Amino acid sequence: MSNSIESHLQEDRVFKPSREFSKNARIKNMAQYTRMYQESIEKPGIFWAREAKELAWQKKWTKVLDWKAPYAKWFLGGKLNVCESCVDQHLKNGRANKAALIWEGEPGETRTLTYRQLHREVCQFANVLLAKGIKPKDRVMIYMPMTPEAVIAMLACARIGAVHSVIFGGFSAESIVDRLEDCQAKAMITSDGGYRRGGVVPLKENVDEALKKYKGVETVIVHQRIGNEGAPVKMKRGRDVWWHEEAAQVSAKHEAQAFDSEHPLFILYTSGSTGKPKGILHTSAGYLLGAYTTCKYIFDMRDDDVYWCTADVGWITGHSYIAYGPLANGVTQVMYEGAPNHPDFGRFWDIVEKYSVSIFYTAPTAIRAFIKAGNELPQARDLSSLRLLGTVGEPINPEAWMWYHTIIGGGRCPIVDTWWQTETGAIMISPLPGCTPTKPGTATLPFFGVDAAILDETGEECGPNEGGKLVIRKPWPSMLRTIYGDKKRYRDTYWKDYQGMYTAGDGARTDRKGNFWIVGRLDDVLNVSGHRLGTAEVESALVSHEVVAEAAVVGRPHEIKGQGVVAFVTLKGSTAPTDALNGELRNHVGKVIGAIAKPDEIYFTPAMPKTRSGKIMRRLLKELVATGEISGNTTTLENPGIVEDLRAQLKKK
Ligand code: WT7
Repeated sequence: MSNSIESHLQEDRVFKPSREFSKNARIKNMAQYTRMYQESIEKPGIFWAREAKELAWQKKWTKVLDWKAPYAKWFLGGKLNVCESCVDQHLKNGRANKAALIWEGEPGETRTLTYRQLHREVCQFANVLLAKGIKPKDRVMIYMPMTPEAVIAMLACARIGAVHSVIFGGFSAESIVDRLEDCQAKAMITSDGGYRRGGVVPLKENVDEALKKYKGVETVIVHQRIGNEGAPVKMKRGRDVWWHEEAAQVSAKHEAQAFDSEHPLFILYTSGSTGKPKGILHTSAGYLLGAYTTCKYIFDMRDDDVYWCTADVGWITGHSYIAYGPLANGVTQVMYEGAPNHPDFGRFWDIVEKYSVSIFYTAPTAIRAFIKAGNELPQARDLSSLRLLGTVGEPINPEAWMWYHTIIGGGRCPIVDTWWQTETGAIMISPLPGCTPTKPGTATLPFFGVDAAILDETGEECGPNEGGKLVIRKPWPSMLRTIYGDKKRYRDTYWKDYQGMYTAGDGARTDRKGNFWIVGRLDDVLNVSGHRLGTAEVESALVSHEVVAEAAVVGRPHEIKGQGVVAFVTLKGSTAPTDALNGELRNHVGKVIGAIAKPDEIYFTPAMPKTRSGKIMRRLLKELVATGEISGNTTTLENPGIVEDLRAQLKKK
């Protein structure tokens, strides 16, 4: 696998959409894209007002944008209920009996919810939340498997103006505690479990453990996914209730009340360069508009499409491209509960064939795993329903792109490589499938309204093929509004480098045609299987173990995951390093954060390589794990001998 910038520079294959695809697409040629893009940058008020008219408003806005850097307000004076755009409006536009969600559980059962049925479920659950005393702006945490109820729970929160915070089902009890405390959640929605790789994920048990430490949750609503035979869960009297029992007691009618455009919609936690995750706050109208328009133009969603995004609702991709964007477009979507390799790596292709999926959105890490599993599995299925493919989460290496293009797309489907972030709320840089010439490895050009640029340290714009920092120079509707409860961190993380501009934290360059090539994070954040992980988080998890004195964590290129986690650990006093301890520390990290953060390798060292002022030389450790060597001078180190020891240890591996 080559993910290096050198291989990108040599990339000269260019792929253009077929005439047939362009003819039917919303944006049919580059002239049309350029015209609309220019308007969106020069007259954002006009451009976004026109798009926003397609959402369901109860009261029209008076002003499109108020920008006092770094704080944006979009569609001031407007009132809407996000849930109405996603659900209610389809009862009036002819889609009432159209499938909204086609769900498949990992064991194989399926369920379909039409827009009318979805509406009924959401209304009923909104009434459950109201009956439990949930008020607008109250924080509600959602910790669920990939079931329709996860989406229903999110929409029901939106409907009553409560702020949801979804936490990925793979996170541990301790991670739940941190997030509950940070957002001071009042209620929790969970399930008795979820199926994953043939086993049951004990979600409710994790919640119980978390709630021993955080006492602010008054109500736990438990959806019964597994049932008693699988995982009998304990219900705490006065706190825990069953979803179905509560739902049976309330009406399925609910009138959607209007909220301000800037009413908070959700908080989603993501990793940063300190140990504490950041609660990214998104608000209503602008966020919804970003999710809506990107689905409309980038996935070019149509009424007869069957769309499938393989992400989990616990990540931003699941928010924007499962819960909000596709539903606002009234599309039919597939939702799958389980693992891509259960019972084998043919599962995704079975699902594509079974439901005639036409738009498929996944991550490079999954594609690489499929490549490894062999061509026979996809080739044994009929994938001819596919018309458009997407990727997200990390740079896609050209080999994976080509495989996706030929083996999955049959050479006929455009690929949209979409660059964006939890903070941006919606896709920012991506081809438009009907017009943009694509090249393996580049996310190509900015979406409407996105003023992306690459700057050097002095703030000058970089020339073609010159690496620099990726920034967004103008506010956009779906941008984060702040870090929940921490304005200072918001300003320091994103708005410090250049006056009035958003710094994404990614290194990138543009080529002569203006295509953006994302190189990767510039901060101490790893990208493991398309998910962000702070090295500081893993370090503090390691140090929380009683035998660990000091830890340093770095990333290393990984064939499937993109990046793997490597930890260096110094043990306290007399503790002897053993293989058993190595395993114990890995599990400890899994317990503190979640399985995704478990180091692939742990090296014990009597001391860390440090500068004379006592700072750990992470750069040096990074180089050592990537190449096995140290190129620079190490004599200025406090303890140069340590590097030799580590090099020998890594060689043995
Ligand atoms: C970081 C954001 C956006 C949903 C999934 C991840 C990397 C994301 C791409 C892409 C190259 C990408 C960036 C970004 N990234 N998409 N198409 N090409 N890099 O969301 O956890 O907020 O992570 O993922 O480094 O900053 P996230």
